[in-house]
Amino acid sequence: MNKNFISSACKFLPLVFVFALLNFSSTAQEIPKEAPAIAAGESLFNANCKTCHRVHQKLVGPALSDVYNRAPSIDWIKLFIKNSAGVIASGDDYAVKLYNEYNKTQMTSFSSLKDEDIMNLLAYIQAETEKGPEVAQAPAAADGQAPKEEGLPSTYLNVILIGMVLILVLLLVILGFLVSALKRFLDQKELSEEDKEVVHSPISVGSISRSPGFIFIVLFLVGALGFKAVINGLYSVGVQQGYAPKQPIAFSHKIHAGEYEIDCKYCHTGVMKGKSATIPSVNSCMNCHNQIRQGTITGEGEIAKIVAAWDNKKPIEWVRIHNLPDLAYFNHSQHVNVAGVECQTCHGPVETMDVVRQHSLLTMGWCIDCHRKTDVNSKGNAYYDNLVELHSKTSKTPMKVEDIGGLECAKCHY
Ligand code: HEC
Ligand code: HEC
Ligand code: HEC
Ligand code: HEC
Ligand code: HEC
Ligand code: HEC
Repeated sequence: MNKNFISSACKFLPLVFVFALLNFSSTAQEIPKEAPAIAAGESLFNANCKTCHRVHQKLVGPALSDVYNRAPSIDWIKLFIKNSAGVIASGDDYAVKLYNEYNKTQMTSFSSLKDEDIMNLLAYIQAETEKGPEVAQAPAAADGQAPKEEGLPSTYLNVILIGMVLILVLLLVILGFLVSALKRFLDQKELSEEDKEVVHSPISVGSISRSPGFIFIVLFLVGALGFKAVINGLYSVGVQQGYAPKQPIAFSHKIHAGEYEIDCKYCHTGVMKGKSATIPSVNSCMNCHNQIRQGTITGEGEIAKIVAAWDNKKPIEWVRIHNLPDLAYFNHSQHVNVAGVECQTCHGPVETMDVVRQHSLLTMGWCIDCHRKTDVNSKGNAYYDNLVELHSKTSKTPMKVEDIGGLECAKCHY
């Protein structure tokens, strides 16, 4: 009997083993759902991925919502994030197709991210996916952060509008009850025939639509919707995110700053010393295009246009893309030189763009949002030593731009 038991147990052993293994590997690939993992993923995402990806919106790369179900496997995602070029070079069908679909834009390789980091990233992406596009923006207001300027006003207004409609419906129901209660009450009274007629006059569509109450409600709704449209319009005044006009010469940042890795500061010489970044003159193009002149003999092609402009001493009339209204003051050297902010933080991955487009909102909310979040770069800057010391006496958090007056109206407005 004992022997029987052992032998039957032995038969099951491999099964149990396989089962345990399956179980193990599936928990290892389970996307975490805990808040700390999601929070860690969020900060990784903001630091590394946000320049190119959003969860619900296509940017430089695809919208990442639901990517864990769409991509071949979680392991594939890990490999791709660590070394996308490698996966594409290996001829992986899914990767090659995606790469072509995104005009052969190379995703940065994140070889320093650990598997655990990537699972946290996926945790964040999954949490955002499940929240859906609308709700994803609401928590920003709840935790006292600056409003996300794109979505919030309309979300608020929608909530207010829905609230008002609900209240109206409730009022109608209550009125209905009151009317029938009154009727019942009046029925018990002795009334003249005339009065009875009034009490029991049928309620028709005509009588409702002619009643002052109904007209008021309709006017109110039309007014509220109009108000919402006006507010929405005001919020998007001057917002030109994504603006990418055609330029007189098809100058490509992808070729110059990307492939040939020419430093941004080589051409935009103003960024370290002044307010304006400046656009290079024809002279600086000719430093190289004196040599690189394909197509110029026939007088055709884009480079020929540079040579023509140079010969005729006519400046090239580039179309300006980023443009704050005159009332606002922005200084490049303060941000690039003093604060050490990368161009890409504000301008996006310019080195991947054939045609430059406006990457950020450039609204006041955008400036302020960053000033609230960003630490002042005080290292090696004696100017800040006293301030940092003062700040550390009153607060445990690092000194933010906000703390040195970055939210004062006069700093940004003339
Ligand atoms: C420089 C821009 C850039 C950055 C930064 C970037 N990506 Fe990408 N990503 C892309 C592009 C472009 C693609 C499309 C495939 C391609 O062209 O290589 C892509 C594709 C992906 C895909 C596959 C999407 C799909 O639909 O299957 C995943 C997953 C992904 N990225 C995750 C990340 C994560 C996570 C980060 C941050 C750690 C990140 N990416 C940072 C540009 C970027
Ligand atoms: C070889 C010279 C050159 C290099 C290198 C270069 N740029 Fe440019 N950049 C230009 C020219 C010319 C224009 C104007 C034409 C255009 O918009 O494409 C321009 C335009 C821009 C604009 C838009 C200006 C506007 O009108 O608002 C931004 C932003 C920009 N560059 C950022 C960068 C960044 C960031 C880098 C480094 C990654 C860089 N540039 C490297 C020459 C250069
Ligand atoms: C530091 C050197 C350098 C400078 C400065 C430079 N270029 Fe170029 N440019 C190149 C190189 C390298 C190529 C690539 C040539 C090739 O692909 O054969 C190129 C290619 C081009 C092309 C042709 C792109 C194509 O589709 O083939 C245009 C147009 C161009 N540059 C415009 C400009 C303009 C405008 C400026 C000045 C704002 C400028 N370049 C400044 C190095 C430079
Ligand atoms: C903190 C955000 C921020 C950073 C960092 C930043 N820029 Fe800008 N950039 C802006 C804003 C805002 C404007 C619009 C300025 C205006 O209209 O007065 C702009 C305008 C420009 C322009 C067009 C007009 C001009 O001459 O001002 C160029 C070119 C440019 N930036 C290049 C760069 C380069 C190159 C870098 C990195 C060395 C860089 N920017 C870093 C925010 C930034
Ligand atoms: C990517 C983050 C970021 C964005 C976006 C940004 N700033 Fe700043 N800003 C900084 C940092 C960091 C400093 C601190 C520089 C220093 O150490 O003096 C700063 C400082 C300033 C200062 C000086 C403040 C002071 O008290 O000395 C002004 C003015 C300013 N920014 C204006 C703007 C305007 C206008 C915009 C929007 C068009 C903008 N900034 C967008 C990060 C940002
Ligand atoms: C960090 C920089 C910064 C600070 C601080 C700042 N602003 Fe602004 N403000 C801007 C920018 C940039 C714009 C232009 C936004 C646009 O074009 O959408 C703007 C636009 C405005 C406008 C809208 C003008 C119009 O065109 O409709 C008003 C009003 C305004 N600011 C008032 C204020 C007041 C009041 C304060 C102080 C409480 C303040 N700002 C602080 C950067 C700033």
